[in-house]
Amino acid sequence: MLTEELRSEVARLKSERDAVVLAHYYVNPEVQELADHVGDSFALAKLATTLPASTLVFAGVSFMAESAKLLSPNKTVLMPDPAADCPMAHMVLRKTVDAARERYGDDLAVACYVNSTAEAKSWSDVCVTSSNAVKIVRALPQANVLFVPDRHLGRYVASQVPEKNVILNDGYCPIHQDISANEVRALKAAHPDAPVLAHPECGPEAMALADFAGSTSQIIEAAVCGAALDYIVLTVDGVRGELERQTAGTGKRFHFPATRPVCPDMDRITVERLVSCLRDGSGEVGLPPADVAEGARAALARMLELGAR
Ligand code: 13P
Ligand code: SF4
Repeated sequence: MLTEELRSEVARLKSERDAVVLAHYYVNPEVQELADHVGDSFALAKLATTLPASTLVFAGVSFMAESAKLLSPNKTVLMPDPAADCPMAHMVLRKTVDAARERYGDDLAVACYVNSTAEAKSWSDVCVTSSNAVKIVRALPQANVLFVPDRHLGRYVASQVPEKNVILNDGYCPIHQDISANEVRALKAAHPDAPVLAHPECGPEAMALADFAGSTSQIIEAAVCGAALDYIVLTVDGVRGELERQTAGTGKRFHFPATRPVCPDMDRITVERLVSCLRDGSGEVGLPPADVAEGARAALARMLELGAR
């Protein structure tokens, strides 16, 4: 429970540092309460480019803070715990990209999920997030699209854009991949009228049981706008707070897999670490080498451009 004293201390530190706190839906609910903005990866990346504050504190994993730094290189970007990293971000090899380019030449685009290192982004033509991947891949002029690093989001995109030859890589999110079809069937048996809302990082068996697939924000929107009272939610448990906040007083209920999916890296962002980062200015995110920064920034900028159309 956050005390008034802590809330005012955080407000004072933010104003002293001219800092804005951006939090992903997966981080600790109390960190979300202390944030100025809470959102999905795309919303936060876009927002970071428009905020006037000189310091952005990114309460999320490192690819999110790194993307903010790439898009706003003159701002100070801080992470409450720089060790909070997304394992999937590292699951693509340069040789995979090179082999596809060699095989398909100019008729290949490399679409890189934003959950990736700056280096992987720099090998790519465009970044995507789970909220815009389908739209962006559909809009690409090339017939062949290498989708990295997430094989599950890539497979979902391929199913929605059958006119493209989507080539999959072998990366995955260990947390979403672990949500089993049996758990989903058990939830459906207990709540037969509940729509299943899934993050497309889930594996194919769980996805086959889903009624709706979307990013964290899109899942929240589907539950807020839906007519049902019960919802089965296949993503990290962190979204529960926002789901409950936005549906307060409606009687809506949210059912997550019994194994309670949590992201250990997002969980590294605690209130204590947020406060010390604001106090000391610790956890500063640097820019990668200039050639990497330039390539990664171009892929992110193309996402912002295609995502806005
Ligand atoms: P969103 O883009 O839906 O916020 O998801 C980010 C993420 O890391 C999902 O695991
Ligand atoms: Fe990465 Fe999965 Fe955590 Fe999202 S939930 S940040 S994809 S490890």
